[in-house]
Amino acid sequence: MSLLLAETRIQALSLVAEGCDLLDQTQLPEREVKIRITTPQEMIAAIQALVVRGAPAIGVAGGFGAVLSARLHQHQSLPVAYRAIQEDLHSLYHARPTAVNLMWAVKRFQLLLDEASWSTTMDIVTAFETLARTIEHDDIKMCQQMGHHGASLIPTGAGILTHCNTGALATAGIGTALGVVRTAFINDKTLRVFADETRPRLQGAKLTVWECLKDDIPVTLLSDNMSAWLMKQGQVDVVMVGADRIAKNGDTANKIGTYLLALAAKAHDIPFYVVAPSSTLDITLANGEAIPIEERSAREVTHFEETALSVDDSRLQVFNPAFDVTPGSLITAIITEQGIHRAPYCF
Ligand code: MRU
Repeated sequence: MSLLLAETRIQALSLVAEGCDLLDQTQLPEREVKIRITTPQEMIAAIQALVVRGAPAIGVAGGFGAVLSARLHQHQSLPVAYRAIQEDLHSLYHARPTAVNLMWAVKRFQLLLDEASWSTTMDIVTAFETLARTIEHDDIKMCQQMGHHGASLIPTGAGILTHCNTGALATAGIGTALGVVRTAFINDKTLRVFADETRPRLQGAKLTVWECLKDDIPVTLLSDNMSAWLMKQGQVDVVMVGADRIAKNGDTANKIGTYLLALAAKAHDIPFYVVAPSSTLDITLANGEAIPIEERSAREVTHFEETALSVDDSRLQVFNPAFDVTPGSLITAIITEQGIHRAPYCF
């Protein structure tokens, strides 16, 4: 396997002296707009609105939000700043419930805040900036390592079915599942990506397709109800997805629709791989039953942007879980930065 590192110029988020720059993912692929945010409240709103999204990216965003909080309170006395930062960390921690990377990152700032003995408020700012950049750099590195391990599982010329967006937009680096694709693509220009559109927010149609085309990776878009039929046609050699939280036994929460893909892959004897950094592991949970599943607004299902897709009737009920949980027993292997893990899982 080549030791060349996969690259991309797509950058979802960056910490700058004046604040944090986010590539607004709600405007892609129509417009590439960077927005600058300067407060933790703006970061929370951006995470909730999916301006920045994807489990590893929102972990990094949580860290940048912590820095924005420390900077915002840098001119206050130490006790006042300490309390205000604590409150901001609490709100950041709860911005979205499923991707454990956010909690994993914010907890590190909470621990740092509590453990260190601070002389000035500025010291908190400096220490938070260092930690936020460490989390960002570690994520970049973990993406490279997952890419290296995962690429060994991709046969030459493979058709790779993926779901949601797991690329540079979802991480600080080259991505998780799409990072593996980027790495395999260095040596094999014949591989093909099949991107599920990923209703209701269309991360596949809007983001994965945009990323693949930007990096010249051949991609075919399909709507979510076409995957099983594509498998039946013999077009899919592997299914590769990311994760928002993985329990000790390998049960994996990921974008709604992942479970259905895993079932279809099993029925067609196609390997089903999950690619995620160790920051996505939640070993406090024995299995996936206790993973909190985010329920998002009904409007995401009843409308596409401003266009109504259904009747406007108060009797209509809408089911909109943002994630589902795939049992570890349906997952052929889980690829982390440490290597390839196979069932039975025990993280
Ligand atoms: O709601 P989103 O867009 O944040 O959901 C993202 C996903 O489900 C991804 O598949 C997951 O975070 C893994 S991405 C590296």
